[in-house]
Amino acid sequence: MRIGILGSGLMGGKLGTIFARGGHDVVFSYSHSEKKLERLARDAGAIAHAGTPREAAESADVLLIAVPWSRIADVLQQAGDVSGKIIVTCSMPMNDDDTDLVIAHSSSGAEELARMIPDAHVVSAFCTVPSEVLFAVFELRDTERRPSLVYCGDNKHAKTIAAQLIRDVGFDPVDAGPLRMARYLEPFTLLIAQLAYEGDEGPALAYRFERFEERE
Ligand SMILES: NC(=O)c1ccc[n+]([C@@H]2O[C@H](COP(=O)([O-])OP(=O)(O)OC[C@H]3O[C@@H](n4cnc5c(N)ncnc54)[C@H](OP(=O)(O)O)[C@@H]3O)[C@@H](O)[C@H]2O)c1
Repeated sequence: MRIGILGSGLMGGKLGTIFARGGHDVVFSYSHSEKKLERLARDAGAIAHAGTPREAAESADVLLIAVPWSRIADVLQQAGDVSGKIIVTCSMPMNDDDTDLVIAHSSSGAEELARMIPDAHVVSAFCTVPSEVLFAVFELRDTERRPSLVYCGDNKHAKTIAAQLIRDVGFDPVDAGPLRMARYLEPFTLLIAQLAYEGDEGPALAYRFERFEERE
């Protein structure tokens, strides 16, 4: 797949690197530093490139949006026409000091994003884990007990592709249903962040859902 990374920071830089190492063609974009984008591309391997958001979007099958909430409008404007594209977002609708959701309960960041680009197919994925765990999950992807990763969206094909990318990173994708489920997925992410960043055991945290047979 050709994957455009819009926002090449902690999440976008690491996920883009993993996608490239997994054999995808990746364009890193949207940073204050062109040099950083070039370094990310160089380190990720031969099929990765640095580019502008427009270049990342033009040829992409999938776009990953990984920018602070305040930059969403800007990065979309720079990316240009994204009609028909699969948009995977891990961006959380956080306030400027990153302490609380600015959209919740009756909507979600993912739904607001979908409203901004109605001709694209938005899937919410990857926001429920901290960036610090991504490389470890990728390295351990051949283990049987993969960690779970919840995702949601309204377009079946876009969800199939997102689930494939989730598998490529090393998670077990858990389909949480339509995009409006992001209303629950995004607050869940704040719980994960609390456990990752306020606990004593470090931020490299993932989660796993187990199913059991019901007993009387
Ligand atoms: N970090 C996590 O563990 C985590 C987990 C789940 C969800 N999220 C969510 O994922 C999204 C991205 O988080 P992150 O931690 O990856 O953020 P980050 O490290 O700050 O990365 C954001 C990227 O956007 C770029 N950027 C920001 N403002 C820009 C501007 N004005 N012009 C050009 N480039 C600009 C940054 O540029 P530079 O390269 O110059 O910094 C960086 O590449 C956020 O919505 C966050 O809530 C993060």
